[in-house]
Amino acid sequence: MEEKKAKKNNDKKLKKKTESMVSLTIDGLPVTIEKGTTILQAAKEIGIEIPTLCYHPAIEPYQACRVCLVEVIKGGKSSLVASCGYLAEEGIEVKTDSETVNEVRMVVIQLLLAQAPNSEKVKVIAEKYNVEPIFVPRKEEKECILCGLCTRVCNEIMGIGVIGFAHRGANREIVTPYKELSELCST
Ligand code: SF4
Ligand code: FES
Repeated sequence: MEEKKAKKNNDKKLKKKTESMVSLTIDGLPVTIEKGTTILQAAKEIGIEIPTLCYHPAIEPYQACRVCLVEVIKGGKSSLVASCGYLAEEGIEVKTDSETVNEVRMVVIQLLLAQAPNSEKVKVIAEKYNVEPIFVPRKEEKECILCGLCTRVCNEIMGIGVIGFAHRGANREIVTPYKELSELCST
Protein backbone atom coordinates (compact mmCIF):
# COMPACT_ATOMS: atom_id res chain seq x y z
CA MET A 1 0.00 0.00 0.00
CA GLU A 2 2.77 2.40 1.06
CA GLU A 3 4.79 1.42 -2.02
CA LYS A 4 1.84 2.15 -4.29
CA LYS A 5 1.40 5.56 -2.69
CA ALA A 6 5.10 6.39 -3.07
CA LYS A 7 5.03 5.33 -6.74
CA LYS A 8 1.96 7.49 -7.36
CA ASN A 9 3.70 10.48 -5.75
CA ASN A 10 6.83 9.88 -7.82
CA ASP A 11 4.76 9.61 -11.01
CA LYS A 12 3.03 12.87 -10.13
CA LYS A 13 6.37 14.62 -9.52
CA LEU A 14 7.78 13.25 -12.79
CA LYS A 15 4.69 14.41 -14.72
CA LYS A 16 4.95 17.88 -13.17
CA LYS A 17 8.64 18.07 -14.02
CA THR A 18 8.04 16.90 -17.62
CA GLU A 19 5.29 19.48 -18.03
CA SER A 20 7.66 22.21 -16.86
CA MET A 21 10.29 21.32 -19.48
CA VAL A 22 10.60 22.24 -23.15
CA SER A 23 12.55 20.49 -25.89
CA LEU A 24 14.04 22.26 -28.88
CA THR A 25 17.07 22.04 -31.14
CA ILE A 26 19.91 24.54 -31.31
CA ASP A 27 22.22 24.24 -34.31
CA GLY A 28 20.82 20.75 -34.82
CA LEU A 29 21.53 19.63 -31.25
CA PRO A 30 18.57 18.58 -29.10
CA VAL A 31 18.20 20.27 -25.71
CA THR A 32 15.56 19.90 -22.99
CA ILE A 33 15.45 22.66 -20.41
CA GLU A 34 13.08 24.22 -17.91
CA LYS A 35 10.34 26.51 -19.16
CA GLY A 36 11.33 30.13 -18.65
CA THR A 37 14.92 29.57 -19.84
CA THR A 38 16.14 31.91 -22.56
CA ILE A 39 17.63 30.62 -25.80
CA LEU A 40 20.94 32.16 -24.74
CA GLN A 41 20.98 30.13 -21.51
CA ALA A 42 19.80 26.97 -23.29
CA ALA A 43 22.61 27.31 -25.84
CA LYS A 44 25.12 27.77 -23.05
CA GLU A 45 23.87 24.53 -21.43
CA ILE A 46 24.99 22.57 -24.48
CA GLY A 47 28.21 24.49 -25.03
CA ILE A 48 27.08 26.81 -27.82
CA GLU A 49 28.43 30.31 -27.40
CA ILE A 50 26.37 33.29 -28.55
CA PRO A 51 28.03 36.73 -28.34
CA THR A 52 26.48 39.30 -26.01
CA LEU A 53 27.14 42.89 -25.00
CA CYS A 54 24.21 44.23 -23.01
CA TYR A 55 23.37 40.98 -21.23
CA HIS A 56 24.21 40.24 -17.60
CA PRO A 57 22.78 37.20 -15.77
CA ALA A 58 22.08 39.23 -12.63
CA ILE A 59 19.66 41.63 -14.30
CA GLU A 60 16.64 41.52 -16.56
CA PRO A 61 17.51 41.38 -20.29
CA TYR A 62 17.18 44.72 -22.04
CA GLN A 63 17.81 43.50 -25.61
CA ALA A 64 19.55 46.69 -26.68
CA CYS A 65 22.70 45.68 -28.55
CA ARG A 66 21.21 42.92 -30.78
CA VAL A 67 24.59 41.19 -30.99
CA CYS A 68 22.99 38.01 -29.64
CA LEU A 69 20.55 37.65 -32.55
CA VAL A 70 19.65 34.10 -33.58
CA GLU A 71 17.25 32.63 -36.10
CA VAL A 72 14.16 30.91 -34.72
CA ILE A 73 12.16 28.60 -36.97
CA LYS A 74 8.67 28.03 -35.67
CA GLY A 75 5.69 26.64 -37.61
CA GLY A 76 7.74 26.83 -40.82
CA LYS A 77 8.41 30.55 -40.37
CA SER A 78 11.80 32.01 -39.61
CA SER A 79 12.46 35.15 -37.58
CA LEU A 80 15.42 36.85 -35.95
CA VAL A 81 15.21 37.31 -32.18
CA ALA A 82 17.49 38.51 -29.41
CA SER A 83 18.44 35.25 -27.70
CA CYS A 84 19.12 36.94 -24.34
CA GLY A 85 15.44 37.77 -23.93
CA TYR A 86 13.61 35.14 -26.00
CA LEU A 87 12.33 32.18 -24.02
CA ALA A 88 12.91 28.68 -25.37
CA GLU A 89 9.73 27.08 -26.70
CA GLU A 90 8.68 23.50 -27.34
CA GLY A 91 9.61 22.24 -30.80
CA ILE A 92 11.36 25.33 -32.15
CA GLU A 93 14.52 25.13 -34.22
CA VAL A 94 17.22 27.66 -33.40
CA LYS A 95 20.16 28.57 -35.62
CA THR A 96 22.98 30.60 -34.11
CA ASP A 97 25.33 30.42 -37.08
CA SER A 98 23.17 30.59 -40.24
CA GLU A 99 23.99 32.80 -43.20
CA THR A 100 21.21 35.22 -42.20
CA VAL A 101 22.41 35.40 -38.59
CA ASN A 102 26.00 36.01 -39.64
CA GLU A 103 25.05 38.70 -42.16
CA VAL A 104 22.81 40.60 -39.75
CA ARG A 105 25.24 40.23 -36.86
CA MET A 106 27.98 41.68 -39.06
CA VAL A 107 25.88 44.80 -39.76
CA VAL A 108 24.98 45.12 -36.06
CA ILE A 109 28.67 45.03 -35.13
CA GLN A 110 29.54 47.51 -37.89
CA LEU A 111 26.92 49.92 -36.55
CA LEU A 112 28.28 49.49 -33.02
CA LEU A 113 31.81 50.17 -34.30
CA ALA A 114 30.56 53.43 -35.83
CA GLN A 115 28.64 54.37 -32.70
CA ALA A 116 31.38 53.60 -30.20
CA PRO A 117 34.69 53.20 -32.03
CA ASN A 118 36.64 53.32 -28.76
CA SER A 119 34.72 50.55 -27.03
CA GLU A 120 37.11 47.72 -26.20
CA LYS A 121 34.25 45.22 -25.92
CA VAL A 122 32.96 46.08 -29.39
CA LYS A 123 36.48 45.88 -30.80
CA VAL A 124 36.94 42.41 -29.29
CA ILE A 125 33.69 41.14 -30.79
CA ALA A 126 34.50 42.73 -34.16
CA GLU A 127 37.87 40.99 -34.20
CA LYS A 128 36.39 37.66 -33.17
CA TYR A 129 33.83 37.76 -35.98
CA ASN A 130 36.22 39.33 -38.52
CA VAL A 131 34.12 42.46 -38.91
CA GLU A 132 35.76 45.52 -40.44
CA PRO A 133 34.35 49.01 -39.80
CA ILE A 134 32.56 50.31 -42.90
CA PHE A 135 30.34 53.07 -41.55
CA VAL A 136 31.77 56.51 -40.77
CA PRO A 137 32.33 56.72 -37.01
CA ARG A 138 30.70 59.46 -34.97
CA LYS A 139 32.74 62.66 -34.83
CA GLU A 140 32.77 62.59 -31.09
CA GLU A 141 34.54 59.30 -30.44
CA LYS A 142 32.68 57.50 -27.71
CA GLU A 143 32.99 54.24 -25.84
CA CYS A 144 29.36 53.97 -24.79
CA ILE A 145 27.13 51.69 -26.87
CA LEU A 146 24.01 52.74 -24.95
CA CYS A 147 23.43 49.19 -23.78
CA GLY A 148 21.84 50.39 -20.54
CA LEU A 149 23.78 47.87 -18.43
CA CYS A 150 25.03 50.55 -16.04
CA THR A 151 21.58 52.13 -15.59
CA ARG A 152 20.00 48.75 -14.90
CA VAL A 153 22.66 47.78 -12.36
CA CYS A 154 22.21 51.17 -10.70
CA ASN A 155 18.42 50.63 -10.58
CA GLU A 156 17.96 46.92 -10.08
CA ILE A 157 21.02 45.92 -8.06
CA MET A 158 22.01 49.09 -6.22
CA GLY A 159 18.43 50.32 -5.95
CA ILE A 160 19.58 53.91 -6.41
CA GLY A 161 18.75 54.89 -9.99
CA VAL A 162 20.91 57.98 -10.23
CA ILE A 163 21.86 57.47 -13.86
CA GLY A 164 19.62 57.17 -16.89
CA PHE A 165 19.19 57.87 -20.58
CA ALA A 166 18.77 61.41 -21.86
CA HIS A 167 18.00 62.87 -25.31
CA ARG A 168 17.16 61.00 -28.50
CA GLY A 169 18.81 59.74 -31.67
CA ALA A 170 22.45 60.70 -32.15
CA ASN A 171 22.40 62.78 -28.95
CA ARG A 172 21.25 59.94 -26.71
CA GLU A 173 23.53 59.51 -23.71
CA ILE A 174 23.75 58.27 -20.15
CA VAL A 175 23.62 61.06 -17.60
CA THR A 176 23.02 61.83 -13.97
CA PRO A 177 20.20 64.24 -13.09
CA TYR A 178 21.24 67.71 -14.33
CA LYS A 179 24.55 66.07 -15.28
CA GLU A 180 25.72 66.47 -11.71
CA LEU A 181 27.42 63.65 -9.83
CA SER A 182 25.27 62.10 -7.13
CA GLU A 183 26.35 61.96 -3.51
CA LEU A 184 24.71 58.51 -3.37
CA CYS A 185 27.01 57.12 -6.02
CA SER A 186 30.15 55.58 -4.60
CA THR A 187 31.92 55.11 -7.94
S1 SF4 B 1 28.24 53.46 -20.09
FE1 SF4 B 1 26.45 52.18 -19.55
S2 SF4 B 1 25.17 52.24 -21.38
FE2 SF4 B 1 27.21 52.92 -22.01
S3 SF4 B 1 28.24 51.04 -22.71
FE3 SF4 B 1 28.78 51.31 -20.54
S4 SF4 B 1 27.27 50.07 -19.44
FE4 SF4 B 1 26.45 50.39 -21.53
S1 FES C 1 23.00 40.72 -25.45
FE1 FES C 1 21.05 40.32 -26.26
S2 FES C 1 20.47 42.20 -27.11
FE2 FES C 1 22.36 42.64 -26.17
